[in-house]
Amino acid sequence: MTGVLAMLATVVALVPEPCEQAWREGVYSVDAEPGALRACNVAVSAEHVKFVHDAAIPPEGYRIDVSADGIAVASSDDAGAFYAMMTLKQAATVIGDRKNGFRLSIPCGTVIDAPAFRWRGFMLDEGRHFFGKEVVKHLLELIAEHKLNVFHWHLTEDQGWRLAIDRFPELVKYGSVRPRSVAHGSRGLAEFGDCVFNTEPYGPYFYTADDVREILAFAKARHIAVVPEIEMPGHIRALLAAHPEFSCKGDLSRVPHTYWTIEEDVLCAGNDDAIRFMEQVLDEVCELFPGAYVHIGGDECPKKRWRECPKCQARIKALGLKDEDALQAWVTRHFTDYLAKKGRRAIGWDEVFAGSPGKETIIQCWHIQHGNKFGLLAAEAGYPVIVSDMKRTYFSLPQGVQDDPFTYLSPDGRCSLETAYSFDPMSGMTDAAAPHVLGAECCMWSECTWNIYDLDFKLWPRVCAFAETMWAAPKVPRDFADFVRRMTIHRRRLIAAGVNCAPLE
Ligand code: ACM
Ligand code: ZN
Repeated sequence: MTGVLAMLATVVALVPEPCEQAWREGVYSVDAEPGALRACNVAVSAEHVKFVHDAAIPPEGYRIDVSADGIAVASSDDAGAFYAMMTLKQAATVIGDRKNGFRLSIPCGTVIDAPAFRWRGFMLDEGRHFFGKEVVKHLLELIAEHKLNVFHWHLTEDQGWRLAIDRFPELVKYGSVRPRSVAHGSRGLAEFGDCVFNTEPYGPYFYTADDVREILAFAKARHIAVVPEIEMPGHIRALLAAHPEFSCKGDLSRVPHTYWTIEEDVLCAGNDDAIRFMEQVLDEVCELFPGAYVHIGGDECPKKRWRECPKCQARIKALGLKDEDALQAWVTRHFTDYLAKKGRRAIGWDEVFAGSPGKETIIQCWHIQHGNKFGLLAAEAGYPVIVSDMKRTYFSLPQGVQDDPFTYLSPDGRCSLETAYSFDPMSGMTDAAAPHVLGAECCMWSECTWNIYDLDFKLWPRVCAFAETMWAAPKVPRDFADFVRRMTIHRRRLIAAGVNCAPLE
């Protein structure tokens, strides 16, 4: 017994680390199939776990008491009970064989836990590469196990429009297919001279309304809120392939962009029909996604076309705007107000902050020049802030581990596991700013990510580090060496679950 106990104590390597944990002599042990671990959820576990309501436990928090006689879970909400099950799933081991049967064992002990941040997000770009709903479900399952609770779904880009809009079928007809793509393993940046194209049509790839409903139900069962992102007024070339009439030039080719630069063709902000069109797209997005938030992008909108466009210049004049930046601020304000009237909160990348949008707008900060300046300024101005520090939470960056097939891909530096673990959304925040920080998101941009193997390799184990900084960061002193110790065990769980997890170093 002592040997088994010692082994169990070693395998209780929880990620993210809970706020408090104390393990004791003894185990709760039941006959179980090996698959019981994967099926470990609140519904199927009711026979082993006694769930109780305790209003004193913070939102999403829980208390677990495991004794040899049974398991008690207390929480003040369903999410807390769910996260308790995710913790038990990591704490459990299944030992045995087919002949003698299997036993699921959980060491006796107590865990008391609650998250540090309420917005613990993961963003997936499906514009550059499309992964499909089985991959999305695989990722949702995994992020839920790491107690993340927001899936930010980047569905539209210069290179692909991935959401069927009933009213405008041409969006996916033209916008979801491109005649060629950057070949697997090529960086795709022409200016670096190493862009290799294939000649395969890519697509049509998009989600239907039924797909969206399926993903939403899957996410809801795992306490994940889904935030769709419909980019505007830039990063919109795939939309303009379907509707060139809404560009400033009006005569664009009907194909999305095929490699990874920021397109100069953007939405014509001077064209009332283009504005009305985007409103109608948002109407349908709001019907499909009943959640509270809609992301409207706003990053990296070149102003060249607006400077040359008579309609855009006429709008600037009519509204008495100073320049093209002010025109983007007007576009942002128009759509954040439009969404607010529909009862939705708009989120925008930090570029939208420059235009002073309505105070209900959530600012997602990705630039980190001058420290977390945009995040700090936005939070001090009273905007709710989500931090996505591009050096520490962009897992599209190479991680620099052994055998990293992506080491050569980025001129922008790396994000090692230790760098990811060093992320702190409160870094540089003043007392005035701190209460406005909702949390953070890690981001998976998919230019150099072609399939689930590439995706998993880039995401894991860095998402584990991110999840830990989101869950318990301010409460426990950070100890990277201890995180790595737990990760050597946890990584084996990920690999057993079929995840192409990168090495730890
Ligand atoms: C971004 O990385 N362009 C938000
Ligand atoms: Zn224009």
